[in-house]
Amino acid sequence: MANNSSNGDNQTTTKPPPLPSPLRFSKFFQSNMRILVTGGAGFIGSHLVDKLMENEKNEVIVVDNFFTGSKDNLKKWIGHPRFELIRHDVTEPLLIEVDQIYHLACPASPIFYKYNPVKTIKTNVIGTLNMLGLAKRVGARILLTSTSEVYGDPLIHPQPETYWGNVNPIGLRKLLCLKLHHLLPCTHYIVHGGFGAVMMRGSVAETLMFDYHRQHGIEIRIARIFNTYGPRMNIDDGRVVSNFIAQALR
Ligand SMILES: NC(=O)c1ccc[n+]([C@@H]2O[C@H](COP(=O)([O-])OP(=O)(O)OC[C@H]3O[C@@H](n4cnc5c(N)ncnc54)[C@H](O)[C@@H]3O)[C@@H](O)[C@H]2O)c1
Repeated sequence: MANNSSNGDNQTTTKPPPLPSPLRFSKFFQSNMRILVTGGAGFIGSHLVDKLMENEKNEVIVVDNFFTGSKDNLKKWIGHPRFELIRHDVTEPLLIEVDQIYHLACPASPIFYKYNPVKTIKTNVIGTLNMLGLAKRVGARILLTSTSEVYGDPLIHPQPETYWGNVNPIGLRKLLCLKLHHLLPCTHYIVHGGFGAVMMRGSVAETLMFDYHRQHGIEIRIARIFNTYGPRMNIDDGRVVSNFIAQALR
């Protein structure tokens, strides 16, 4: 049943999510949850895989092109009957039956996302579109790992959920995100050297998520991750916490 709601000039249509595979309703179906983790060989992704694998009802499929991730991060699961590892680039379509998608694939460190900015943008835009298309086709719930950069350079600390952020107006703000400010607490245009990467992840990918949710009823989640550090992180990857620790050690 479509639910059309009108809000001034902001017309939105929310459709019910598509049905999952008919296999779900078959009589002898074992109700294991099949979970796809893109970027699962990376720092955060591999910890997420560890957590998901703890639940014996979960089957975990990792898709990664190993640009910044490594099989080493997953070695304890390789060969496990509930685990699959696929070398695949998310900029290419993926046909697979899953119930949930955790979409993490994207280089997160400045050194790597600046290495090939065009590819980084493709990963963010085409990769996210491919994953949303998959979620739509199979009726899967999808989570995007966005970034705290969407909050801009805040003027107040700490920031409550009601704070809309402080957006740097330089760059592609008006061009790319005119409609975003209707949807999101804030947009972000931190013009780092690798501006495309950070901005795209946070703004365009989030917009695509909301558009798919509104237009196709896809169930979405967005996690805006702040600076994270821990085991399996590359000490030289240029992120702030690892930089501080590495400098202190030196
Ligand atoms: N670590 C942080 O502090 C932080 C902060 C904000 C957001 N995030 C987001 O969280 C996610 C994971 O971050 P991370 O720190 O684990 O980074 P990471 O670089 O360790 O992991 C990213 C993974 O994605 C894979 N990948 C990259 N491009 C791909 C492509 N085109 N196709 C398939 N796989 C691809 C890499 O090989 C790697 O395994 C990223 O989306 C990042 O933007 C991380």
